Amino acid sequence: MYCKSNYYSIFLIKFLTKCYKNFVKYYNLIKENKNRNGGSKIFNIKNVISIKDFKKEDIKFVLDEASKLEKIAKSQETSNKLFGKILGIMFFEASTRTRLSFETAMKRLGGNCIGFTGIDESSIIKGETIADTSKMFESYSDTIVIRHPLEGVAKFISDIVDVPVINAGDGAGQHPTQTLLDLYTIKKEFGKIKNLNIALIGDLKYGRTVHSLSYALGIFGAKMHFISPNDLKMPDEVLHDLKRKKISYHETNDLKDVIDDLDILYVTRIQKERFPDVEEYERIKGAYIIDKNLIEGKNLIVMHPLPRTDEIRHDIDDTKYNKYFNQAFNGVPVRMAILKNIIKNNK
Ligand code: NCD
Repeated sequence: MYCKSNYYSIFLIKFLTKCYKNFVKYYNLIKENKNRNGGSKIFNIKNVISIKDFKKEDIKFVLDEASKLEKIAKSQETSNKLFGKILGIMFFEASTRTRLSFETAMKRLGGNCIGFTGIDESSIIKGETIADTSKMFESYSDTIVIRHPLEGVAKFISDIVDVPVINAGDGAGQHPTQTLLDLYTIKKEFGKIKNLNIALIGDLKYGRTVHSLSYALGIFGAKMHFISPNDLKMPDEVLHDLKRKKISYHETNDLKDVIDDLDILYVTRIQKERFPDVEEYERIKGAYIIDKNLIEGKNLIVMHPLPRTDEIRHDIDDTKYNKYFNQAFNGVPVRMAILKNIIKNNK
């Protein structure tokens, strides 16, 4: 009798211990998942084609992740999170920052890269279609990042391959990862985005960075001023999207109208390569030149996706106004955050 009850007690204790251990295990898993996502839902975006693919929570999640990855981005810590993974880089247009920061991001996370910049480095020059080329990238890599002069190409590729596709600029369309690093830079500088006064100035017609950025700034409640020559105004499709989201904005040709109210002056290059007529470019170039004299004493920062031509004078480089070089560095942690989550999500 004694033996039997002893046997039952031991069984019960073992059973309860197992239940308790399982409870602790699942509780920690839930907690870890919550922390990982900054309390928000799990990031489950597969393709990064447009900034409109992101909800506000998704953007917050990426910015939060990026700040956790800063030490690795700066090489103060090492990581092997993407060990064995390969990023396929298909760039049909020139790039310095976007390509190199994607490569750095992948390598800092222990992964690797393959790819090309320009069609003469691939069989496209022999007449291979971009669809066939993408199929090759799909079999050699875990995710593809693509830059192309035609709007819509990144979306087209994402429809024919199974690995995630990231749009690193499609013509005058979108440049979503640039927007995420722009927002990250703003958040680092001001601790917030809401109610900041920001002017997007220059080529708002062909500049893809401002097409993506205006949408994101709008959903975060920034106050936007669009400053451009009449021929380079923000396209109707972009304005239409803003109106549909009930996002307000102010348009002008003259920086002097708003300069005293600004927190951020976001300068863009006149996109020479997208002008159908070079004479038209020659007429418009140099429309806005930002120099030290113009901004001295103002309480603002200057951002630019780079490369610059003549729109930001070099006398700003060594001043507190210059945030464009920091902005370029911020591409690394932000792209690390995207790659880490997108590659993991595709498993
Ligand atoms: C921009 C681009 O390619 O759209 N550059 C970048 O990605 N950092 C801006 C430009 O080329 O003017």
